[in-house]
Amino acid sequence: MKETLETIRGRTRIEPVAGIVLGSGLGGLAEAVQEPVSIPYTEIPGFARSTVAGHAGRLVLGALEGVHCVVMQGRFHHYEGHNARDIVYPIRVMAALGVRRLLLTNAAGGVGLSLKPGDLMVIDDHINLAGVNPLIGPNDEETGPRFPDLTNAYDADFRALIDEAARELCIPLHHGVYAMMSGPSFETPAEIRMLRALGADAVGMSTVPEVIAANHCGLATAAISCITNMAAGILPHPLTHREVMETGELAREKFTLLLRGVVRAIGKELSS
Ligand code: HPA
Repeated sequence: MKETLETIRGRTRIEPVAGIVLGSGLGGLAEAVQEPVSIPYTEIPGFARSTVAGHAGRLVLGALEGVHCVVMQGRFHHYEGHNARDIVYPIRVMAALGVRRLLLTNAAGGVGLSLKPGDLMVIDDHINLAGVNPLIGPNDEETGPRFPDLTNAYDADFRALIDEAARELCIPLHHGVYAMMSGPSFETPAEIRMLRALGADAVGMSTVPEVIAANHCGLATAAISCITNMAAGILPHPLTHREVMETGELAREKFTLLLRGVVRAIGKELSS
C-alpha cells in the first residue's frame, strides 16, 4: 500500500474526497474530469493486471464540478479470474487517499418488469449470489471489524442526495435490489425467475465485492445501475455483450449528467 500511494502521490498532489467507479460502457464521465492525471493500472504497484484485452483501465484524478475526485475507468471482475482481494484493492487505495464517499456504477440486466433498457436504478440493497466475499481471510482490525454490519451498506443519506440531484435534473430514477451472479455467462431464464422470486430487481456481475470492502473501511457508499438489457427469458431475443455496451452508450449523456449533479451535491455538502 505504501508503494501504491507513493506512486499515485508522485504523479499528483490532488487529495480526492470522492471516489467513482465507472462500469462497462460507462467510462465516458472520466473525460469530464478537469486537469486529469491519468495513471494506467499497469503502472500502479499492487493493482491486478486486467485480463480483458483493450480494457487495461486507468485511475483518473482531478476535479469534477470543483470537487477533487478519483475515478476508476474500468474495474476488476471476479469472472476474469481475479481474487476478491485484488478486486477491492483499489477501493482500499481510495480510502487511504482520503476519499470519504464512494459512488459505484455498473451495467445490469433488468429483472423487475417495470424496468426497461436505458433506465437508471439506485441500488438500495444487494443479494450476493456470486460466492465471493473480499473479507474472507485474516482480518486487519485497523481497516475494519471482523464482522462488518451491512444494514446501511448503501448509505441512506447518500441515496437521498442522489435522489435530490436527479430531481433537480428531472432524471427519472428507479430504486431496487441488485443481485450479483458470478458470470461470465449470462443467467438462464430459470435463474432470472428465481432472482425475481428472491426480491431482486436487477442482476449483474460486479459491485458487491467493492461495496463490502468499502463498508468495511468506513466509506459512505452508493451505487447506480444502468439497466442495459432485460434479463434472460423476459424478451424473445438472446442477450449479447453488444446490447449491453450499446445501451450503456445511449444512456451515457443522462448518466454523466446525473453523476456530475451528484458530485456537485457532494461538493455543496462538504463546504457547508
Ligand atoms: N446479467 C448479468 N450481468 C449483466 C447483465 C445481465 O443481464 N446485463 C449487464 N450486465
